[in-house]
Amino acid sequence: MINNIEDKYLQFKETTEYYQSLQMQNDQETLVQFLRETQDIFGCIPADAKMQIGEIMGMKPSLIDKIISMYPSLTAEKFQTEIIVCSGASCSSKNAQKVLSEIQTLLQIRPGQVTKDGRYKLTAKPCMKQCKKGPNLMIGSTIYHNIDSEKLKTLLL
Ligand code: FES
Repeated sequence: MINNIEDKYLQFKETTEYYQSLQMQNDQETLVQFLRETQDIFGCIPADAKMQIGEIMGMKPSLIDKIISMYPSLTAEKFQTEIIVCSGASCSSKNAQKVLSEIQTLLQIRPGQVTKDGRYKLTAKPCMKQCKKGPNLMIGSTIYHNIDSEKLKTLLL
């Protein structure tokens, strides 16, 4: 059992390199083995690891979720609420990157990761189609506009 998070990601990097070298895209048996080894490293299948696995295996995250749900021994990382920071061009020109950095500092996670308490998952993606009111942020199903440091603290702390 690896305890240090950096060691876990190092081990996962080696695992991804191995599966990449196999060139077995779209092979379900290989995918399940890859998922099992990932779970052995992290104790579950983290959202950011799942994204990388999808890229290597040539499969969409939604298909990987479906396969995980078919195998009771596999467990995807759980979270209560997703925070989505808009990374579209308009929001980016209005300090969306600063908003993202502040959230990373406040919650101690990077995009694709889940907080230790399982409360939040952080995601960055374009565009919420409300560009004039940016920078925009979605928490759960609610969009918040004109986000700045003060608003952020009110929403997250
Ligand atoms: S770029 Fe952020 S809502 Fe369009």
